[in-house]
Amino acid sequence: MKIITAVKGFKDILPGETEKWQYVEEKARGIFKDFGLREIKVPILEKTELFRRSIGETTDIVEKEMYTFQDIGDEYLALRPEATASVIRAYLQHNIHATDPVAKLFTIGPMFRRERPQKGRFRQFHQINVELIGLDDPRVDAELILMLISFLKSVRLSDLGLEINSLGCPGCRPSFRKAILAFLQDKKDDLCKDCLRRLDTNPLRVFDCKVEGCGEIIIDAPKLLDYICSECRDHFEKVKEYLKGFDISYEVNTKMVRGLDYYTRTAFEITTESLGAQNAIAGGGRYDRLIKELGGPDIPGIGFAIGLERLISMLPMKDEEFITHPHLFIAALGDEAQKFAYTLCNRLRMRGIRTEMDYSGKSLKSQMKRSNKLNSHYTLILGEREIEEKKAELRNMKEGTQETISFDNIDNIEETIIDIVER
Ligand code: HAM
Repeated sequence: MKIITAVKGFKDILPGETEKWQYVEEKARGIFKDFGLREIKVPILEKTELFRRSIGETTDIVEKEMYTFQDIGDEYLALRPEATASVIRAYLQHNIHATDPVAKLFTIGPMFRRERPQKGRFRQFHQINVELIGLDDPRVDAELILMLISFLKSVRLSDLGLEINSLGCPGCRPSFRKAILAFLQDKKDDLCKDCLRRLDTNPLRVFDCKVEGCGEIIIDAPKLLDYICSECRDHFEKVKEYLKGFDISYEVNTKMVRGLDYYTRTAFEITTESLGAQNAIAGGGRYDRLIKELGGPDIPGIGFAIGLERLISMLPMKDEEFITHPHLFIAALGDEAQKFAYTLCNRLRMRGIRTEMDYSGKSLKSQMKRSNKLNSHYTLILGEREIEEKKAELRNMKEGTQETISFDNIDNIEETIIDIVER
């Protein structure tokens, strides 16, 4: 019978890889704590309406990529394509703003987008997602980017670029909309049918279109940055100034609009050359209108998400660096020795000594082989004679040396081994 495999674009993360995930998540949690963030856990399934209203009806994510279905009882539900909408929903539902005007939240977990799978692009992928809610000061934008870059550096990523842009506020958009529509007027025949449709609804989306021809058309298009109001311009100038203050270099990318509709003012992406077409390792920005649009008070917010698969594929460390090896392997031969080894093995584990043993009763030679394969630091050799004479051989596998350890009972061999291993 054929085995059942995973769904296309959904990936298993196997031991060997999971250690890298733990390492990255631990680093993130540490840095986030220093910046005053707290963890929030939100469901994977939400009402489809939440994403339609927040990400935007005319985005690729909502139009083409959402896993959405009609539940029993007729409600439409969706596997979350991103976390910001869910975090804001939870923030409003639990009235978090009533107890503290500022909420600094992070969440880590899987997201789902039905994109065409390719290198660095999956249908289930994971994000580390951060939201700072309640602050519109440009210092917050800069320190959020500082935190993101510090984290990426802490996991030893290099050759990263920071691209920033300002998407202005709804007040800046009408004049830009007019300009972009005038620019595209005589180019309509060359636009893809999605962009053509979006001209009426959301012309900004042409900048985000993945179709090559549309990308060429917008090269000479008017820039949103030239149309933003003086308050938005001032905010953007200050963000840049604070970034300089932190010695963070950036490039202003006037074409970057991000793939979600909720952004206002600062938008940013961390890019890398090494990922090919999927070059964004993280992206985010300000969403000062989103909370109100979702029915809440007029509260600003800013955040980002890091693509974990992409980040992990870029870690410079060798795979071996993530593997933990046993401190001790017990090679035991004969019933008495096996019995003694079994108790000792588990007592040592409970004292924090990573210990393995062999249950097969195979020859000492084959047990030593297994110890070698596991890359154990020490091997304890216990045969019938050793049990009788209360003497065991402890081999230091790394140095190739061996010593005899005498013991009266299991308690003192346990202590002796702990002393040696921790030495
Ligand atoms: P996003 O740019 O759509 O932003 O996604 C953030 C990151 O998730 C991307 O830079 C990329 O590394 C990763 N990513 C996205 N799609 C895929 C995929 N199909 N396969 C693998 N990785 C992927 C957001 O999701 C916003 N919610 C970020 C945000 C938070 N903005 C404000 N707060």
